[in-house]
Amino acid sequence: MNQATAHRLISSTVEEKNPGNLFDLRFYANLGYVQHLFYSLYPEEKYKAVFQDLLSLLPKLFASRPEELKFQDLQRLSDGNWYQSEQMVGMQLYVEHFNKNLKGLKEKLPYLKDLGINFLHLMPISPRPKGENDGGYAVNSYHGVDKKYGTTKELLSLTKELRKQDMFLMLDFVVNHTSDEFSWAKKAKAGNKKYQEYYYTFSDDTIPKEYEKCMPEVFPETSPGNFTYDLEMNRWVMTVFNSYQWDLNYTNPEVFLEMLTNLVKMINQGVDVVRFDALAFLWKKMGTISQNLPESHTLISLFRMCLQIIAPGTIFLAEAIVAPTEIVKYFGEDFGAGNECEIAYNASLMALLWNSIATKKTGLLYESLTNIPNKPQDCTWINYIRCHDDIGLGYENDFIKKMGWDPQQHRTFLLDYYCQNLDWSPATGMLFMYNPKTGDGRITGSAASLLGLEKGISSKNGELIEEAVSKIILLHGIVLAYGGIPMIYAGDEIGTLNDYSFQEDADKKGDSRWVNRPKQDWNMISNLDDKKLPQSKIFHTLKKLIAIRRKNSVFADQNNLVIHHTGNNHVFAFERTGENDGLLVLCNFDEKQQVVESSWMMKLGYFTKGEPKDLVSGKKVAFNSGLFTLSPYQVLWLKRD
Ligand code: GLC
Repeated sequence: MNQATAHRLISSTVEEKNPGNLFDLRFYANLGYVQHLFYSLYPEEKYKAVFQDLLSLLPKLFASRPEELKFQDLQRLSDGNWYQSEQMVGMQLYVEHFNKNLKGLKEKLPYLKDLGINFLHLMPISPRPKGENDGGYAVNSYHGVDKKYGTTKELLSLTKELRKQDMFLMLDFVVNHTSDEFSWAKKAKAGNKKYQEYYYTFSDDTIPKEYEKCMPEVFPETSPGNFTYDLEMNRWVMTVFNSYQWDLNYTNPEVFLEMLTNLVKMINQGVDVVRFDALAFLWKKMGTISQNLPESHTLISLFRMCLQIIAPGTIFLAEAIVAPTEIVKYFGEDFGAGNECEIAYNASLMALLWNSIATKKTGLLYESLTNIPNKPQDCTWINYIRCHDDIGLGYENDFIKKMGWDPQQHRTFLLDYYCQNLDWSPATGMLFMYNPKTGDGRITGSAASLLGLEKGISSKNGELIEEAVSKIILLHGIVLAYGGIPMIYAGDEIGTLNDYSFQEDADKKGDSRWVNRPKQDWNMISNLDDKKLPQSKIFHTLKKLIAIRRKNSVFADQNNLVIHHTGNNHVFAFERTGENDGLLVLCNFDEKQQVVESSWMMKLGYFTKGEPKDLVSGKKVAFNSGLFTLSPYQVLWLKRD
C-alpha cells in the first residue's frame, strides 16, 4: 500500500471531512517518512534547523492553496486512482503552435473534446530568455506566464474552464535547472555567495574536470561538456544541458525548500499533473555518471511526500528517458513503491515500436518488454509514439545481440533507415546529436514523416500513402490500448509532416528537434469531412478508437497487461485482461499479410461465440481453418465478452 492509499483509508474514517482536518492527518501520517527522507539527504547534525523550517513551511503552503482546489483534492482522494481510468486520453501541444496563445487554446477546447481528449500537456509557458531557451526549458520563473502566451489571468481562466469540462492539465516543472537569467542566477553572477551555493559553482576548473571524467554529455554537438565558465561571475558553473541552463544544487537543503515553494505556486494555478522534467539528473556525485543516483530517488520521494500533504490531488509524471530497468524505479521501489511518481513515460515502448517499424520484426520488442520489471499497482504509464524530443536508441545491447544483430551496426541501420540514408526507406527523419567519432546519434521527425507519409505525398505514391496511414493507425492503436494514458502529440491526429522552417531561424537551426514541433494545421482540420484525404482517415479512425477506449473499462490500467507470443516474428500481441471481459490486440509490423495460428486465442476465450469483430475496422476478422490473417500493418482490437 502506498501513502496515497493510506491517506484514502484514513480520511474515509473521518466523520467531519474538511480540508483543514485532513491536512493535519496527512501531515502526521507522512511526518516520519518526510523526516526519514530529509535526513537521509541532509544530515541531522547539520540541518536540524532547516528541517524545522520545512515543518513550518508545509502549513503555510497549504494555506496558500485556493479553497476550490483544496476541495478538489479531497474529492480526488476519495475517487481513487483517477489517472488509471480508461477516460484518460492526452494531447501534448505547444500553445503558440496550436492556436497562438492561451486564449486561442481555450477557443479550441471543443476540437479537443470532439476528438475525445481530456488531458492536456502544455509545453512550457513560463517566462524564458529571449533567443535560445531550449523551447522554454530554460525558465526565468516557475509560476509566471510568458507574455507571448498571455497573462496569469488567462491561465487561470483556462484552468477554470478545464475543471468545468472535466479536463486535466499537465505542466512542466523544470526541477533540475533554471535559466541563467533566473533571479538566483543573476544574484550569483553579481557575486552573492548564498546564491552561488544554489548552483554548482567553482572558482576554477579543477573540480569540474574531476566531474567530467564520468559524466556523459547530453547535447554533445551544441553544448559539449557539463560546465560553463561564466565571465560575469568569474566562476565555473555546472550546465549539464545547455550552457544557459544552470543545474540546481540540491545538496543544499535551502534549494529544496525554495523549489517546493515554487512547485506549490505553480500547481495552485490549477495543475493536476506535474511533469518532473529531467529528474534523473537531480543529484550529482563526483566519480559517477550523475544520473539515476539513489539520492535523486530520495529527493523525488521527499517532494512527493511533502506535496501529498499539501495537495493530494496533484500527481507526478517522471520524465526519465533512461534504461527500461531504471525508468520503473521512478515509481518507487520496495517500501517506497508507489511513493515517487504516479506516472512515467513509457520511453522503452516508444523506442521499441520504432525499431519494429524499421525492422518489420517484433523480437526485440518482446525480449525487452518481457524483461521490464512490473510497475507498482498504483502507478501507470504515459504511452506515446512521438513527442517534442528526439527518439533515442537506448535498447539493451544484449537483447540486440540475442536477435543476431551487432549493436553498433544495428543502430547505424536505424539511423540510416530513419534519417534518409537508404533510398528504399520511406522515412524522412533527421539526425540529432550525431557524433561522428562514436557513430552515436538520435532521430527527429514527425510520426507521419518517419512513417512515410511525406515521401508518399511528395512522390504522389498512393500505395506508400496508404501504407503510411496504416502504420500511423497501427502505432496509435497500440498506445491507446496498452495499459496507461495514451498521449497523442498534437498534429499526429491529422498526420502532420515535418516542419523545416526552423532551419531559417538562427535560434533554432542547431536543434533538429524543431522539425517535429509543427504548427497545428487548422486549414487541414477544416477539410476533414473530405473522406478521401489520408489525413481524414487518420483523424476519424483515431477519434473512433478513442471513443471505444473511453466506453470500455477494460482499457483502464489495473496492471492487467499480458504479452502473448504468436509464433510469428512480424506480429506483436498483447491482452488486457478483465474479470468479465478482455481485449486482445494483434499488430502486424510487416508490409505483407501475416498469418497467425489461433488455437491459443481460443483457449483465452476469444472465439467461443464464432468469428469476432475487430473494433478497429468494424469488420469480422479473416479467419480460415484455424488461421488468422492480418493485412499489412494491421492492428486488431478483439473483445472477449
Ligand atoms: C527534457 C525535455 C527536453 C529538454 C530537457 C532539458 O528532457 O523534454 O526538451 O531539452 O528536459 O530541460
